[in-house]
Amino acid sequence: MGDIKVGLIGWGTVGCGVIEVLRQNAEAIESRLGVRLELKRVADIDLDRSRPVMVPREMLTTRAEDILNDPDIQIVIELMGGLGAAKGFIIQALENKKHVVTANKALLAHAGNELFEIAARNDRTIAFEAAVAGGIPFIKSLREGLAGNQIDTIFGILNGTANFILTRMTRQGLSFQDALQEAQQKGYAEANPALDIEGTDTAHKLAIASAIAFGTPIQFDQVYVEGITHIDPIDIQFGEEFGYRLKLLAIARNLDDQLEMRVHPTLIPRDHVLAGVDGAYNAVHVHGNAVGNIMLYGLGAGMMPTGSAVVSDLIDLARDILGNTPARIPPLAFRAEKLKEAVIKPISGVTTCYYLRFAALDRPGVLSRIAGILGQNQISIASVIQKGRQVEEAVPIVMITHEALESSMQKALTEINQLEVVAGPTQVIRIENQETGSLS
Ligand code: HSE
Repeated sequence: MGDIKVGLIGWGTVGCGVIEVLRQNAEAIESRLGVRLELKRVADIDLDRSRPVMVPREMLTTRAEDILNDPDIQIVIELMGGLGAAKGFIIQALENKKHVVTANKALLAHAGNELFEIAARNDRTIAFEAAVAGGIPFIKSLREGLAGNQIDTIFGILNGTANFILTRMTRQGLSFQDALQEAQQKGYAEANPALDIEGTDTAHKLAIASAIAFGTPIQFDQVYVEGITHIDPIDIQFGEEFGYRLKLLAIARNLDDQLEMRVHPTLIPRDHVLAGVDGAYNAVHVHGNAVGNIMLYGLGAGMMPTGSAVVSDLIDLARDILGNTPARIPPLAFRAEKLKEAVIKPISGVTTCYYLRFAALDRPGVLSRIAGILGQNQISIASVIQKGRQVEEAVPIVMITHEALESSMQKALTEINQLEVVAGPTQVIRIENQETGSLS
């Protein structure tokens, strides 16, 4: 068998990583595979921009068709991103009987189910290790390493930009804007950073991972999403005083035949392993009924880590090609005919503990009015502190509650926010801790 030829569409940061990994590790890859992986062509609309990794001119083209219609190319890597042209190219590649590797989590979240069907019809595979948690082999772990388990929960820090921002706000007291700017300079952020800071990128990844873990189609539109743009550094500080660290957490939990899928800022115990995941690092904490708790940790973004994930897919696909076993492992781990839509628990039905920061006037009886409304809504207070003393002015009153139902909490907050002694909207952050039974 000769070399396996590969074409790359999208010569950006991750594309450069793939080229460099293939170049640096060519010998090790050939020793593992038995044949060479040869990058034959690279397509991008802009060939003149300077890049960290260059390619001989004769390999370059501005036309994706030069790759999609090349009969020698067996695997197409799509790294252009976005929901537009990328989808068409992937479909064309599959219909031209080529396997596809992509890091395009947004596209998979929105159209993965359809694309997997097209792949199956053409006896080809779409591999996407790089789409979730960058360099961490999370997809492979869920799909293969944990295949003997029933998965109960996934807790993930899946966006390096958001984690970097929160880390800088926590450790150095930076403002949100300054931390975001630094993350962008370091190249972690998406072309549109709103996807990072509003939680959408994390939700894309959670939807994909959750489908693989729980045997469902991808149900991205059912993920509850809240980003970190409304986080004030003082909430991070108060959270720390109560023994919690703030993370943008992706949570998927299969409980009583209902699936929770939610992304939101979450306070977690400072001594939990996830609390120590700092900077652009990602981590996933999974509980399986046989394995117990496991955690995977690594860089979730960046040229070489993401390149590493793409190349691992190339090697898998090359092995399938060599063994003539296309689509040996279904893309979502479960056989297509066994995938079953999950019943999703709406956020209003979720039970969790809460951090609340009220802007309350410093006047006798205010706390009892707030506590009264919480009590009427079956919300029990675990601890409370008042910060400062400003007679007749608003001061932060910070509370931690025991487990409460989200719909009760929202009802209570609507009433509390209308009190004349409350000067502004209440800040609410959900908590996962031992009481919620999940993060132990
Ligand atoms: N913008 C993403 C992140 C890149 O910050 O994690 C990897 O998907």
